[in-house]
Amino acid sequence: MSENISVLGLGLMGTALAASLIEAGHHVTVWNRTPAKADPLVAKGATCAATPAQAVEASPLVIVCLLDYASVLETLEGVPLAGRVVANLTTGRPAEAREMAAWVGERGGDYLDGGIMAVPQMIAHPGALILYSGSQPAFERYEQAFGAMAAARYTGDDPDMAPLLDLAMLTGTYGQMAGSLEALALVRSAKYPLMEFTTELLIPWLNAMAAMLPRWAEEIEAGDYRTDVSNLEINRAGMENLVRAFEEQGVKPDLLLPIKTVIDRRVARGLAHEGLSGLVEEL
Ligand SMILES: NC(=O)c1ccc[n+]([C@@H]2O[C@H](COP(=O)([O-])OP(=O)(O)OC[C@H]3O[C@@H](n4cnc5c(N)ncnc54)[C@H](OP(=O)(O)O)[C@@H]3O)[C@@H](O)[C@H]2O)c1
Repeated sequence: MSENISVLGLGLMGTALAASLIEAGHHVTVWNRTPAKADPLVAKGATCAATPAQAVEASPLVIVCLLDYASVLETLEGVPLAGRVVANLTTGRPAEAREMAAWVGERGGDYLDGGIMAVPQMIAHPGALILYSGSQPAFERYEQAFGAMAAARYTGDDPDMAPLLDLAMLTGTYGQMAGSLEALALVRSAKYPLMEFTTELLIPWLNAMAAMLPRWAEEIEAGDYRTDVSNLEINRAGMENLVRAFEEQGVKPDLLLPIKTVIDRRVARGLAHEGLSGLVEEL
C-alpha cells in the first residue's frame, strides 16, 4: 500500500530512511534545514517542502530524524499536529521520549518513539532494526510502511521503551568493544597477527560465550545467583591474574578495571559463592 509520508531531517540517516521509502513506492515529502540536501531525493521522486509545517501538512505520517530532541522541538514548534502520527527516530533518552510524547499529545498528534539499530548503509537491508514504542494503533497502522526502512519491532506503549532498549543494546556493544580493544592490545604486545586472532579466535569465542546471556537473564529475573558455571571468587582471582598479565606485557587494563572493581565489591560483601549475574545487584 502506497502511503503519504513526510521525513523531517535529511542528514545521513534521514536521507537513507527517505530513500528507502521512495524506493518502496511511497509518496514522500521531505524537509531539511539546509534545503540543498533534498535535491538527490527530489531527483528520485520526493517532494520538497519549504517549511516543517508544509511537510507535516502533506502527510498523516511524519518521520523525524534530526540531531537531538532540542532540534525536534525547535523544528515542530508552532506546527499543528492534529491527526498526525509523529514517529520520532531521533536518538534520545527515555525521559526525553516521555516529554516528547506529552508535547505531541498536547498538540493533538499521536506519538511513536524509535531507536534505529543500524547505520545508514544498512537501511532497507537485512540486519537493520528499528525499535518503536508509544501509540500501538499508530504502529499497527504504519507497520508495513516502517518495514521498508528496517525490520520494525514494537516494544510497548510506554514511549520511553524504545530509547531505553536502544541505549541498552548500545551498552552491550560498548562492553564488547571495551573487552575486544583490551584483547587486541594484549595480542599486539605479543606481535601475534591481529586479523588471525580476531577472525579465528576472538569472534567464535564471543559468539560461543553469548550463549550464557539467556541464563543470566533467567537468574536475574529470579534473583537467584547460585552458579554451577564459575563463582565470583574464581573470577576475582582470574581478574587479578589478568591485570597482572597486562602489566607484565606493558598494556594498560583501563577498560577492564571497572568490572574488576564491581567483582571485588561483591566478594567483599561475602558473596564469593555467587555467579557473575549477581553483579547486576551492584549496579
Ligand atoms: N548515522 C547513524 O549511523 C545513526 C545510527 C542510529 C541513529 N542515528 C540517529 O539519527 C539521528 C540523525 O543522525 P544523522 O547521522 O543523520 O546525523 P547528521 O548527518 O549529522 O544529520 C543531522 C540532521 O539534523 C539536522 N539538524 C541539526 N540541528 C538542527 C536544528 N537545530 N534544527 C533543524 N535541523 C537540525 C541537520 O540539518 P542540516 O542538514 O541543516 O545540518 C541534519 O538534517 C541522530 O539522532 C542519530 O543519533 C544515526
